[in-house]
Amino acid sequence: GGGLHARAAAKGLAFGAALATRHLAEADLMAAFRADCGLLVAEYEMKWAELEPQAGNRRWRRADQLVDFARRNRMALRGHTLVWHESEPRWVSDLSARGAEAALARHVDETMQRWRGAIGTWDVVNEAVAPEHGRPDWLRRTWLLNRLGPDHIAQAFHIAHAADPAARLAYNDFGVEHATAWSRRRRIGILTLLRALRASGVPVHVLGVQAHLHAGQPFEASEWRAFLADVAALGLTIEITELDVNDRALPAAAAPRDAGVADLVRRFLDVTLAEPAVRAVVSWGLTDRHSWIREGRLAEHRRRDRATPRPLPYDEAMRRKPMWAAIAAAL
Ligand code: XIL
Repeated sequence: GGGLHARAAAKGLAFGAALATRHLAEADLMAAFRADCGLLVAEYEMKWAELEPQAGNRRWRRADQLVDFARRNRMALRGHTLVWHESEPRWVSDLSARGAEAALARHVDETMQRWRGAIGTWDVVNEAVAPEHGRPDWLRRTWLLNRLGPDHIAQAFHIAHAADPAARLAYNDFGVEHATAWSRRRRIGILTLLRALRASGVPVHVLGVQAHLHAGQPFEASEWRAFLADVAALGLTIEITELDVNDRALPAAAAPRDAGVADLVRRFLDVTLAEPAVRAVVSWGLTDRHSWIREGRLAEHRRRDRATPRPLPYDEAMRRKPMWAAIAAAL
């Protein structure tokens, strides 16, 4: 139908969203996935800590359920994410450097072999550039960095490429989209990393731009366009991998809040989709009902009695919001 993926596919692009296995039973949500998504990514189930909670104890079932859902509905899949400091199993931090190297290699190989041919792009490494970029060691101090050094990033990509030479391999990160000094420093850090990887022959094919946007923060079309062109000039394609909008800076009432979110999404996607190297747009869920921005450390609305976040294309009752129309208009 006139769903988002149909519009994307008409331009050779893909549109999709993140899904968690626990929501597969929600018929209204599944109907929206079928109507709008040609691409799926597991919100949790393919992260290392979920796949191997104890060394050698591989738990594939929950991720398999999402892969089966995608297959039944003829959706492509993104793999998220092989290496991420926030989802390393605890047992890994007890290993020696050599033990860590072996565990990393086994994890990447076994995981990619499991769904070989079903997953088009893998986020091999997620969020490796230090958030407070500007320090000389602009890589985040992760367990893997201090055990294996900066080369662990290249190692992960080489192992992934050997495991499935047909898979497109992505470096995925956040905090590059806005016209702020912090985002500018992060864009430099990420371009520096990508240039170094490409210069040393590392098989990285895609930059994943998470696009966790912030309403109220400036967005400058010209600098965003220039960054995307710089990434494309490295021979990489680009995927928008986790689109949502933190709307806490907007008015509490739903109508102006939804309008502000839709305006930012429209401006962002108009510039983004003008770059030919951009091949996919994935939102971090479809419905406000399950957004991560309503959970955990981000759920400040509960602590400070603020308006409940409305970061995604559908509301809690699965009604399309202005953000849905903004994505549709940009595709
Ligand atoms: C988030 C999930 O949405 C949360 O529910 C979970 O508690 C933490 O991870 N960047 C990423 C995603 O790459 O994996 C994160 O997903 C959101 C930030």
